[in-house]
Amino acid sequence: MTTTSTATNAATTADLGLTQLIDGIRSVVAHDLDWDATAKLVADELAMALPHVDGLTPGQRLGSAERYTHHTLYVDPGGQFSILAIVWRPGQHTRIHDHVTWCAFGVLQGVEDEELFDADLNLVGRNVNRVGDVSGFAPPGDIHRMTNTGDVTAISIHVYGTDVNRIGSSVRRYYQKASGNRTPDPGRLSSALNDRGPRPAPLDRLCVGCAGVW
Ligand SMILES: [Fe+2]
Repeated sequence: MTTTSTATNAATTADLGLTQLIDGIRSVVAHDLDWDATAKLVADELAMALPHVDGLTPGQRLGSAERYTHHTLYVDPGGQFSILAIVWRPGQHTRIHDHVTWCAFGVLQGVEDEELFDADLNLVGRNVNRVGDVSGFAPPGDIHRMTNTGDVTAISIHVYGTDVNRIGSSVRRYYQKASGNRTPDPGRLSSALNDRGPRPAPLDRLCVGCAGVW
């Protein structure tokens, strides 16, 4: 992943037409609302200014045969939010996970199936997100898994309320359904938890690994 610089930000902003979206997100963040409210308002901004997939460069639309991947499009110079393109080839999926901060996303291409889980990892909901659909959410209660269930590459824009390049991942923990007395591994929680925001209540689930994945 290329480290985002001011020059990269400026080029990407111009190429993608992200200026309206960035200005809108910055306006929302400036109100310093709680994470739930921020996520929903940022989702509204995405709905109003969602880029077209053709605005992404071929490289920003590029997936990986090994796993879903991401491309950083913009990082707020103050570190208050980041905008990424995430690319899933057919059948690729995330693990079950939650997040270090508020999130919002909008689908540019394909279909992204989102499974929602409660703290006991019971499936409690499902959203089939298609082109133009947006969503915003915040921890706690943000455990989900994303899967490209379509037959073409799925691409979505994701906004996270932090500098994800600096902290290395938007994921707080991964979860797996397992028997036995497992506990989270606090040593692998993101350093972002030391910086800001509420901590979800401890969950009796295994943290499989938390670095380098979105
Ligand atoms: Fe997620």
